[in-house]
Amino acid sequence: MDKVVISLGGSVLVPDMSDAQYVRKLAWLLSEMAKEYRICIVCGGGRIARYYISMGRELDFTKEELDSLGIAVTRLNATVLLLALGEEAVPAMPRNEEEAAQLMEEGGMIVMGGTTPGHTTDAVAAKVAELAKAKRIVNATSVEAAYSADPKRFHDAERYSTMTLKQLFNLVDKGVHEAGPSNVFDRLGAEIAMKAGIPIYIVNGRDLEEMEKAIKGRDVKGTIAEP
Ligand code: UTP
Repeated sequence: MDKVVISLGGSVLVPDMSDAQYVRKLAWLLSEMAKEYRICIVCGGGRIARYYISMGRELDFTKEELDSLGIAVTRLNATVLLLALGEEAVPAMPRNEEEAAQLMEEGGMIVMGGTTPGHTTDAVAAKVAELAKAKRIVNATSVEAAYSADPKRFHDAERYSTMTLKQLFNLVDKGVHEAGPSNVFDRLGAEIAMKAGIPIYIVNGRDLEEMEKAIKGRDVKGTIAEP
């Protein structure tokens, strides 16, 4: 069975208004997909992580302490999905990428959050994908695709339907050095995927048809970054 690692954005799972119906449908889709693929879902922190991190900053917490808050929230979000999946998922949540890759080898759906201070869950997903020799990474995000610039600010921004992993890396590398909108994928994650030659499918995670196509490696409305 091919392995697929999904980086599920916190804002996808926990949008501004709670959306239990979405979580229910997502859990159903993932359960269906698990019949054909070995899946690991890495959940992001979203606005709840940002809430705690900004509060922690006002309390003068160190960078490591702020990251520990972020990691705790990603694991909280992962717990929501784990509970929604019920018996479909492996109940123990891995604490690091090695454990996740090992559990993927044994079968069963894996749900987890962040692992290492200073990283993001995109990087965690890429690392698990590398260790588990996954067929692809699905970045389930709140944007439709990768663009050459922020489409909200630049109306002539180019939308990519396909690109190379190197192009994606260069794009997000540029994003890290320029202040502006958050990147479509984490720089370290893009680097890991590029070096390991693992395709990244960037899709709107709220669109479950897109999610299904991305998991299956079919054409998507979003972006496919390939070796
Ligand atoms: P996210 O992966 O959701 O961060 O983790 P992000 O990419 O900044 O968030 P989005 O995608 O824009 O919503 C949330 C926070 O948790 C900590 C970091 O502080 C991160 O900003 N974190 C997460 C870690 O320190 N290590 C991890 O492995 C994961």
